[in-house]
Amino acid sequence: MAATLLNLIICAVTVLWAIATTTAIKGIYWLEQPEFPPSAINTSLFTHVFYAFLQPNNKTYELNISDSTATSLTTFTNTFRAKTAPITTLISINTDATLFALIASNPSTRAIFINSTIHVARTFHFHGVDLDWEFPQTFDQMNHLAQLLHEWRAAIAAESVATCRKPLLLTAAVYFAANFFLSKAPSLTYPIHSINENVDWVNVMAYDLHGSWSNKTGAPAGLFDPESNVSVDFGLRSWIQGGVHPEKLVMGLPLFGRTWQLRDPNVHGIGAPAVGSGPGLDGAMGFFQVMDFNNKTGARVVHDMETGSVYSYSGSYWVGYDDPLTVAVKVGYAQALSLGGYFFWAAGLDTTDWKISTKGKGNLKYIQKIVSGFQNNLLKEFSKSEKSTFL
Ligand SMILES: *[C@@H]1O[C@H](CO)[C@@H](O)[C@H](O)[C@H]1NC(C)=O
Ligand SMILES: *[C@@H]1O[C@H](CO)[C@@H](O)[C@H](O)[C@H]1NC(C)=O
Ligand SMILES: *[C@@H]1O[C@H](CO)[C@@H](O)[C@H](O)[C@H]1NC(C)=O
Ligand SMILES: *[C@@H]1O[C@H](CO)[C@@H](O)[C@H](O)[C@H]1NC(C)=O
Ligand SMILES: *[C@@H]1O[C@H](CO)[C@@H](O)[C@H](O)[C@H]1NC(C)=O
Ligand SMILES: *[C@@H]1O[C@H](CO)[C@@H](O)[C@H](O)[C@H]1NC(C)=O
Ligand SMILES: *[C@@H]1O[C@H](CO)[C@@H](O)[C@H](O)[C@H]1NC(C)=O
Repeated sequence: MAATLLNLIICAVTVLWAIATTTAIKGIYWLEQPEFPPSAINTSLFTHVFYAFLQPNNKTYELNISDSTATSLTTFTNTFRAKTAPITTLISINTDATLFALIASNPSTRAIFINSTIHVARTFHFHGVDLDWEFPQTFDQMNHLAQLLHEWRAAIAAESVATCRKPLLLTAAVYFAANFFLSKAPSLTYPIHSINENVDWVNVMAYDLHGSWSNKTGAPAGLFDPESNVSVDFGLRSWIQGGVHPEKLVMGLPLFGRTWQLRDPNVHGIGAPAVGSGPGLDGAMGFFQVMDFNNKTGARVVHDMETGSVYSYSGSYWVGYDDPLTVAVKVGYAQALSLGGYFFWAAGLDTTDWKISTKGKGNLKYIQKIVSGFQNNLLKEFSKSEKSTFL
């Protein structure tokens, strides 16, 4: 009896502590890669690291763990547990949208999948699980996502009580906007209620808004766009207007740029006609590669006030990206909207001295000052801030 009561109190304290310790989220996704092991991550810059990715098996619907994956998972969590300031680790789960749709459609496949994610997270000492379903495509699938999150949260809560451990975190990576207004089903909207009720937060993929798949240049993760709603600002506001609590929104920041080949090297602004992708694998370059490109080619670098973005060009090559300045402004913007924090895609793409990643760390008061009274003033201040010393 006493033991049970004590247990309950310990559990209550554990759970309350979990609720009380909500500081800003500074996340980064890590992809399995020999060139950039988990130990290369500067843990003083992040609060959460996402292991990308695990896949559900398409026959059993359990997470597929080979021997080499098991080794990789163990190395990952051991790395971060060994640090003096331990970092929170999550497993990110990704597969093709059709398989997710199938798993989510049926109570028994949902249960198998959910059980497996909890089991794997606990076995390998992770603190949470992250769903990267890109993307639900129908109204039914959105309802199934809502149900999946609801049952997932219930299973996580039950496991926490049964084992008297802090509940696992549950997060999801989502589209830059709350609805798919650019698609054939423009009113297709995420299940806002279920998100508020069941996930700790969503990672808003506020990037890849433009790329060489379009025949004109654009800011891949522009804060604003005077000509369309394809902007980080519009996307985040659509989530807030849709009813998601702002602290449940975590803003995605790309540590990569997208490249184009200009049709005419003399026409090189945002929206310039392009004939395909420029340098980089599939028209993408890590920030460190963009810096290298700029240096080697002597590219002209332009901070564009209209979009709150940066691009560079040399000859017929054009690169849209984020740099320490645009990221500092975006982080301040996220603060001004009272968001939960930010995350980067992905580890290994910043410069070796973490030029971008360090921008979230300091200067928050200064940046907040810049963005207070945005957005009109933001653009004005944005141009001033280029000359300031906080870089
Ligand atoms: C990690 O980042 C911190 C803060 O910017 C910096 O002081 C430290 O030197 C970095 N450590 C490594 C190993 O890069
Ligand atoms: C599961 O993992 C094994 C070993 O890595 C691999 O051979 C198999 O194709 C995977 N199956 C699925 C469905 O992903
Ligand atoms: C299941 O996954 C395996 C391994 O990735 C693949 O070879 C197979 O085609 C998949 N089956 C279905 C039905 O998608
Ligand atoms: C998952 O299922 C197994 C048996 O299939 C069960 O023993 C275990 O308790 C379940 N785990 C969770 C977290 O529900
Ligand atoms: C660019 O693409 C758009 C949409 O696909 C198309 O309407 C337009 O004609 C294209 N422009 C050029 C110059 O190829
Ligand atoms: C942007 O969205 C708003 C409201 O959702 C709409 O009124 C407006 O027409 C859209 N603007 C453009 C350029 O599509
Ligand atoms: C540019 O490259 C040269 C050598 O290629 C190097 O010495 C220099 O430090 C680089 N500058 C920057 C800003 O990276």
